[in-house]
Amino acid sequence: MNTPKRYTITAALPYTNGPIHIGHLAGVYVPADIYSRYLRLQGHDVAFICGSDEHGVPITIKAKKEGVTPQDIVDKYHAIIKKSFVDFGITFDNYSRTTAKIHHETASDFFKTLYDKGEFIEEVTEQLYDAEANQFLADRFVVGTCPKCGNEESYGDQCEVCGTSHNATDLINPKSAITGATPSLKETKHWFLPLDKHEAFLKEWILEGHKKDWKPNVYGQVKSWIDDGLRPRAVTRDLDWGIPVPVDGGEGKVLYVWFDAPIGYISATKEWAEREGKDWEPYWKDKETKLLHFIGKDNIVFHCIIFPAMLKAEGSYILPDNVPANEFLNLEGNKLSTSKNWAVWLHEYLVDFPEKQDVLRYALTANAPETKDNDFTWKDFQARNNNELVAILGNFINRVIVLTNKYYSGVVPPSNSLLQIDEDTLAAVKAYPNVIASSIERYRFREASQELMNLARLGNKYLADEEPWKVIKQDEARVETIMYVALQIASALAVLSEPFLPFTSAKLNGILNVNTNTVENTWEGVSEGRELLPSGHNIGKAELLFSKIEDKDIQIQLDKLEASKKANEAANRVIEPQKETIAFEDFTKLDIRVGTILEAEKMPKAKKLLVLKVDTGIDVRTIVSGIAESFTAEEVLGKKVTVLVNLAPRALRGVESEGMILMTETPEGKLVFVNPDDPSVTNGLQIS
Ligand code: MF3
Ligand code: ZN
Repeated sequence: MNTPKRYTITAALPYTNGPIHIGHLAGVYVPADIYSRYLRLQGHDVAFICGSDEHGVPITIKAKKEGVTPQDIVDKYHAIIKKSFVDFGITFDNYSRTTAKIHHETASDFFKTLYDKGEFIEEVTEQLYDAEANQFLADRFVVGTCPKCGNEESYGDQCEVCGTSHNATDLINPKSAITGATPSLKETKHWFLPLDKHEAFLKEWILEGHKKDWKPNVYGQVKSWIDDGLRPRAVTRDLDWGIPVPVDGGEGKVLYVWFDAPIGYISATKEWAEREGKDWEPYWKDKETKLLHFIGKDNIVFHCIIFPAMLKAEGSYILPDNVPANEFLNLEGNKLSTSKNWAVWLHEYLVDFPEKQDVLRYALTANAPETKDNDFTWKDFQARNNNELVAILGNFINRVIVLTNKYYSGVVPPSNSLLQIDEDTLAAVKAYPNVIASSIERYRFREASQELMNLARLGNKYLADEEPWKVIKQDEARVETIMYVALQIASALAVLSEPFLPFTSAKLNGILNVNTNTVENTWEGVSEGRELLPSGHNIGKAELLFSKIEDKDIQIQLDKLEASKKANEAANRVIEPQKETIAFEDFTKLDIRVGTILEAEKMPKAKKLLVLKVDTGIDVRTIVSGIAESFTAEEVLGKKVTVLVNLAPRALRGVESEGMILMTETPEGKLVFVNPDDPSVTNGLQIS
């Protein structure tokens, strides 16, 4: 494509069944935002589009669980998610939602158009049915074994392990996610999009047309899908939450969420255009528009096969030029999970790290899962902040601003005569816009972020080599030139950092007192080597752009994750099955009494043992108890306990133990004295 006339950039519509976390930001929204900001800085016409995906089974399930309506759920999370995007500087031109009227109309019309054109197959087939719940089981209402990879927890429409998208009836051993029952089959009518009919076109368009420019992970997944053979896919469902099927016989049925959601991009563009007084159609129908879909890897087939087939079938739309999907981000070695609360939630992050949006944007970009799954660790986050943002970028800017204020009361000095090193440095600065642009245009955002940091490194090296703080004593004119050059670098950083670190860029422009509407302070201005800060220009006072993140701040985050892990273990802890029945006589053999611990001391060289003196009412005796990992000797002094007094004595580490204190173990693995009123003790725990 020659230089496109305009760009339509979409970012996957997030499901509104929970807030968003760092995985969403890293995989989709930050790269899409960097790209869009970059294009705008270049002066391009951009529509950056997103919205909430508010239909689909997960939302119904969540609503059921919480005893509220699906509308309550989507209203709640739409607001939270929308705010997170604003907070993190994601500059959507429109953030819409699929419950909006304009979307219902657009999706409904789209369906009708395909229906009228005869693009669907209408067929009565047998679908999975849960007689107990009185409901057809589609999508996430059913789990079973994936026919492709054997994952036993695949959903009806997609396997999260291998990414394959299938029909619910393809699952082996399906089970209802509502009642756990094995579903039966029941006849129902649906509309199918015959993907097989579009196979030849998809092969030519993607397998031949985009072999070179699509990312290998995307191309590979699409190829394997097409190679497996495409089959008709149902685009309607027997559900009540969604967009009603708008044709005869569609009563009581809704559009499949993956049919309506991508049309959400179109509705959101319409909504935006209406608000802005623009025409939406060129953004979706003009061949000179470049359409890009930013998504995560689990969305590949929907954006590369199903949605394009829909657009092609409709006939008047353009197709995506690229679908730069990312792999997944893990967190501290484990898969991010909403249900297991294994995540860093954006709204919580901002409470713990206020005003550090750019730090997270940067850490996620520098470590983005572009070609393979990647791990987010809090240590890496801290290192990116302390060793790069603070030590390199922040340090350079701070030195430049402080010295300019100190030597010249904040006025940009004249450049006097440039030495070779100055010429070389300015020439190197001028090359950065193209280097960074080339990375961004190839969707290599990690690389781009590192090039940006290299520009700051260049600035630091220049100052370290030229040592203005030393030269000032001998050659004041030379220092003027050095500071002039350093200020140009600072100003270039303000421009080029904007897509990555928008808050920092704005702050830096404020400090430099730069008007961002000038021709100089643009991507092009930097690459043409224009004078960004003329001598005589007044800059402001130094302000720290970044601050160090301490170990204790990181520890708080690690502790939070540890707590999630514990809570999950507790939730998954299996209750021991009941033991064999005993006779009443067996029970009466046990002599259990109340006692008081009079003395306690640690058994030398034994991690677990305390040696206790217990008043049993009969006598005062020694009992060795394996509780030292849960209690100190001081803690148990004076405690009332239950004691099995007629247990045969036995020697532990040479100390004779006469009896046993009854204890139980909480789900978190802590031993506690038997007291059912203790809130940490739950039903089913064993006494031993
Ligand atoms: N809600 C889907 C997800 O989170 C993405 C929908 S993208 C769209 O995986 F194309 F359908 F909008
Ligand atoms: Zn699978």
